[in-house]
Amino acid sequence: MPKSVGLSKDKNWWRQAAIYQIYPRSFADSNGDGIGDLKGVTSRISYLKSLSLDAVWLSPFYPSALADGGYDVADYRDVDPRLGTLADFDELLAELHKVGIRIFVDIVPNHSSNLHVWFKEAIEAKPGSKARNRYIFRDGKGEKGELPPTDWVSHFAPSAWTHESVMGGKGNQWYMHWFAPEQPDFNWDNPEVEKEFLKTLKFWADRGVDGFRIDVAHALKKDLSEPLRSLPVFETLEERGNKGKGILADRDELFKIYKQWRKLFNQYDPPRVAVAEAFVHPERLPLYASTKTLGQCFDFRFIETPFEAAAYKESVQDALELALKNKSSCTWTLSNHDQIRHATKMGLNSAVDRRSWMLSDGTSHPLDAAAGTQNALAATLFILALPGSTYMYQGEELGLHEVTDIPASQIQDPQYLRNNKMDKGRDGCRVPLPWQKSGSSFGFGTGGAHLPQPSWFADYSVAAEENDPNSALSIYRIALGLRKSLITEEKIKWHKTGNPSVLHFSRPNGWHCITNFRGESYPMPKGEILISSHPLTNGKIPAGTTVWLKK
Ligand code: BGC
Repeated sequence: MPKSVGLSKDKNWWRQAAIYQIYPRSFADSNGDGIGDLKGVTSRISYLKSLSLDAVWLSPFYPSALADGGYDVADYRDVDPRLGTLADFDELLAELHKVGIRIFVDIVPNHSSNLHVWFKEAIEAKPGSKARNRYIFRDGKGEKGELPPTDWVSHFAPSAWTHESVMGGKGNQWYMHWFAPEQPDFNWDNPEVEKEFLKTLKFWADRGVDGFRIDVAHALKKDLSEPLRSLPVFETLEERGNKGKGILADRDELFKIYKQWRKLFNQYDPPRVAVAEAFVHPERLPLYASTKTLGQCFDFRFIETPFEAAAYKESVQDALELALKNKSSCTWTLSNHDQIRHATKMGLNSAVDRRSWMLSDGTSHPLDAAAGTQNALAATLFILALPGSTYMYQGEELGLHEVTDIPASQIQDPQYLRNNKMDKGRDGCRVPLPWQKSGSSFGFGTGGAHLPQPSWFADYSVAAEENDPNSALSIYRIALGLRKSLITEEKIKWHKTGNPSVLHFSRPNGWHCITNFRGESYPMPKGEILISSHPLTNGKIPAGTTVWLKK
C-alpha cells in the first residue's frame, strides 16, 4: 500500500478537484465471479494514487437486480453481496483516505428498484394506503381503467406507467416510472420519503463519505395535482425554460429539499459536498449549484461540443459566466458511464451523430482510433488547465475506445432492450477495464468479464501503457500530477493566436495552455514546456495537440 498522507484540511478542496468515476462492476474483480467489486477497487489504490486524484466517485454498489446497471436500488444503506459488504466499503474508504483520496457515493433519489422493501409493500397494499403513497399510484383511464392514467413517456419504455399486475399486484392501479418499469418513482410530496433520504445521506456521511453525486436531481418533484396534465413527449430544456414549473422535472419545490440536505451536509467538518446531475435550462443550473443547496452541478457541455477551437472557446466562456452566477466552480467532463467514450467520438467523422453511430453497429462509419485517442488527450489537457473541477471516467486515462460490437444477446442496458433495440445503449463504455496484456479478462479478474472484452483491449491495458512515456496513461499521470502543483485562482485570460484553429489561455500564475485543434503545426510560444499531449513536430505544436507552458 502507498504511504499514508491523509486528507487535506481545505474546506474548498472540491472547487478545483480531479475526480475519477469508478463503475464498480467493471473496474476490478477480486473474487473471480466476473463482476468487479469493492475489494477489487481497494486492491488498485496504488493505481488511483498514481493518478494524483482528489476523489473517486463510485457509481451505485447497492443491492440491485441490475435492471439499470445498479441505478435500480433495492437497499440504499447496504452493499450488493456480489460487490462486497459494508465492512469492505469501510476498508476501501479508510485506505483511500490514507492516501489523500476522498470518496463520493451515488444517491438515486428519484426512484428505487421494484425490489425495494417499500415497493414490495406498496404492491401488496390497497389503493390510498400509506404504503402506496410512497410511490405514484393512480387509477387508469378507460371504462375499466385499462389505459394508463396519462400520456407521459419514460426514458426506457414507451409509457411512464405500468399496470401493477406486471409486478404481481392484485388491484387495478398503475404506477409511474420515468425510467424502466423496475424503477418506480418515489412520491416526493410525501414527507416520509424526505425523511428516509435524510437518513440515507446521514448513514453514508457518518461513515466518512465526503461527497454525493445526485442522480437525476431535477426530477424528484412532479406536478401531481389533479387532473394530471398531459405531456406526450419529453419537453426540451428550452420548452421547460426557466420557469420552475415543469410537469415532471425542474420544479421550484425541489430546492426546499436540497436546502435541507445542505443543512445536514454543513453539520460535518469539512462539510459534505454534492454534485447534481440535472438536465435543465442553463439559467436554472445555479439553483442546483448554489452554496445553499447542492453546491455543484455537472456541466455536460463538453460531451457534446465538437472538437473545434471556436466551439471550445464558447463553451468555456459560457461555463465561466455561469460559475460566477453560481458562486460555485465549473465542472468539466468529457465522458461518463452514460456516454460513448470520447476517444471514439473524437475519431469519427464529425458529421456522424451519436444515434446513427449506435444504430450502425459501429462498423459503417470510418473510425480513426489513433486520431480519436490523440484528440481526446488534447481535449483532456485543455480542460485540466481550466479553473474548476474535472470529472473523469474510468478507462479514459487509457485512451480507451467504445466497444461497439457487443453481441445483442449479451447487452444488459435497458436503453437497448426497452428502446425497440434501436439504440445499442451504454454497455460499450462499461466493459471491464484491461489491466494486463493477456490472461483471463486482461487482468480484470480470474473468472472472465460480465461484458465481453475485444482483443484490441490488450493494447490499451495498463500493462501495455505503463512504461510508454507517450501513452495516454503516462500523459494523464504527468498532467494530473502537474495540475496539483499548478492549481491557482479560478481565472483565465485568453491570448490572441492569429489562427482560428488554435486557442491559448493562461492562469494568473503563468500557467499557459495552447491547443492546436486542426491544420498546420503552430509555432511554440516562449516558455518552459511542462507537457505536451502528443510529440511536437520540429518544435511546433501539431494538430490535435495541447501543450502546457510555464512563463
Ligand atoms: C444515470 C443513468 C441511469 C438514470 C436512471 C442517470 O442519469 O446516470 O445511468 O440510467 O439516471 O437512474
